[in-house]
Amino acid sequence: MKTDELRGVVHSDPQVMGGTPVFVGTRVPLENLIDYLEGGESVDDFLEAFPTVKREQVIAAMNDQQEESDSLATFRTKPKPQEKRKVKNGKPSNELVLSAYIEGNDSVFPRILGLYVKPGSVIADVTYGKGVFWRTIPDGEYQIRATDLQNGVDCRDLPYKNGELDCVVFDPPYMHTPGGSAHTVHNQFEDHYRNNGTGNRTNSKYHEAVLELYIDGGKEAHRVLRNRGVFIVKCQDEVCANRQRFTHVEIMAAYEKIGFVPEDLFVIVRNNRPGVSRVVQQVHARKNHSYFLVFWKSDSEKERWQPPQ
Ligand SMILES: C[S@@+](CC[C@H](N)C(=O)[O-])C[C@H]1O[C@@H](n2cnc3c(N)ncnc32)[C@H](O)[C@@H]1O
Repeated sequence: MKTDELRGVVHSDPQVMGGTPVFVGTRVPLENLIDYLEGGESVDDFLEAFPTVKREQVIAAMNDQQEESDSLATFRTKPKPQEKRKVKNGKPSNELVLSAYIEGNDSVFPRILGLYVKPGSVIADVTYGKGVFWRTIPDGEYQIRATDLQNGVDCRDLPYKNGELDCVVFDPPYMHTPGGSAHTVHNQFEDHYRNNGTGNRTNSKYHEAVLELYIDGGKEAHRVLRNRGVFIVKCQDEVCANRQRFTHVEIMAAYEKIGFVPEDLFVIVRNNRPGVSRVVQQVHARKNHSYFLVFWKSDSEKERWQPPQ
């Protein structure tokens, strides 16, 4: 049977759509149904789009065992198309924030802020240094409080009231500097990180000193953050005295005890190849990545993170 002979279901009338086979009582071509099904849409999608067609007409058209029409035969021989999952809200995007980047801090940090912190929020960068994180962030986007040990403000003793801030950004020295006589050859390093001396009171040494500062700074951040406030922490793992120290794991465990929920982790990969003048035998992989970790302050284990509105 030809498509135009599917009586009561499909007919062809020169007065309607120039004789194109349409569902009886409508101006909807049979071809539309075929296009829908071949395109992976469901019968329901079709009926929703063409409400003048009756479900029985569609079923009859699909079930007509005598149908010889090429087009109907085409969709009969194909497996029933999978129904597409319909997303009612949202829009397609390839601008998603990703968990790893081969880019600089100044391009990754704004993305993390955009995802976790509402514009206009009060943010304290308590190890501001040269302010690299903020280079590409437009003035006025956030209310930034910039402090650093170099300007006399210790991240362990911040000049803020309890629960005053929406976000704290923390990028303390994440590698140990040797101290003692070896210190002089690491001057530049020490100048940048200010791990030993220069006011960083600690009895610990090496990696333990690094961790201690992360933990004490974390406790102070917890004090000054409001509930659900965001804590963004930069760190890097290190090998210290030939021992692998996964700083990001250690501080996650410590911060959970303080009352922070770890919510996200970003990996930043260096885009240059680190070189060394002499290699006797390599023991561990040379680190060429660091992390941004995102935590938030929570006083209940049942709470879940809600994106800023
Ligand atoms: C890795 S650098 C931070 C770089 C910074 N994010 C930037 O964009 O330049 C570490 C910074 O921590 C600061 N610092 C070290 N100990 C500190 C402390 N106890 N309190 C506050 N800042 C400290 C250093 O002066 C240095 O600027």
